[in-house]
Amino acid sequence: MQQISNLDELRKVRQEWRQQGLSVALVPTMGNLHSGHLKLVKKARELADRVIVSIYVNPMQFAANEDLDNYPRTLVEDMRALQELGVEVVLTPNNQDIYPRGLKQQTLVEVPGISDILCGASRKGHFRGVATIVCKLFNMVQPEHAVFGEKDFQQLQVIRLMVQDLSIPLIVHGVATEREANGLAKSSRNGYLTEQQKQTAAVIYQQLQRTAQQIRQGKNNLHQLEADASKVIQSAGLNVEYFSIRRREDLQPAENIQTELVILAAAKLGNTRLIDNLLC
Ligand code: PAJ
Repeated sequence: MQQISNLDELRKVRQEWRQQGLSVALVPTMGNLHSGHLKLVKKARELADRVIVSIYVNPMQFAANEDLDNYPRTLVEDMRALQELGVEVVLTPNNQDIYPRGLKQQTLVEVPGISDILCGASRKGHFRGVATIVCKLFNMVQPEHAVFGEKDFQQLQVIRLMVQDLSIPLIVHGVATEREANGLAKSSRNGYLTEQQKQTAAVIYQQLQRTAQQIRQGKNNLHQLEADASKVIQSAGLNVEYFSIRRREDLQPAENIQTELVILAAAKLGNTRLIDNLLC
């Protein structure tokens, strides 16, 4: 396994592989890898001859009041886990290579509409930061396949729309959310929670399942379902930001239960912001 930080070096490796007719799958991450990330890497392994995992904590997608400085950085452990999965290249670019003219001078990628709702409503500019870095990574690596988690479902749809709108020649794959035994979605930010809080936080997934079941039973007063669900999560001691039943494709509010749906939730437990979703 090779660690590459330099863009010229990456292009050289990429050129060699292209000449040998080898396909590439990219898994973009911010590191502090857990079994959810590793599931993406295993999927990438199935899809292509060569796997590149990028590890870069992207400052552009964090707001000033968010956890950029505290975001867990565990490169040694991450490298060990990726080595075990037979990853060929770990891409660890530095800020200077990624944003040579600084964050304020950067050309931006904006996916309108979908970026301003749900998580985008409280995290202004977040999805612009995500779309911009992911677009850059796609241009740097030029993979045939890119793998993302359904855990961040809005992010996955933003990236799918960006790829479509900008005619980026690759296939985006979504991988189902990896969970703790109690249902809590695995996340690097779970490290901020105490054991007790991890038990409490499982209420989000339990409620997503309950609401999905109510929809399957034909309950179609979606606003009522959302309000009831928020109340349950709130009374478990979390601060609900949204609990929303949406159309899967564009994440606009669902009008009926005949379309493909996704239920999305965001809630704060102490200072830790948690998100989860369920397709139904
Ligand atoms: P990060 O939070 O490190 O997540 C990297 C990838 O792992 C994302 O596609 C995310 O959806 C996926 N992932 C995280 N937890 C998961 C889980 N429990 N099950 C399945 N997949 C999971 O998301 C980012 O980084 C960044 O925004 C990035 C796309 C790298 C751009 O900076």
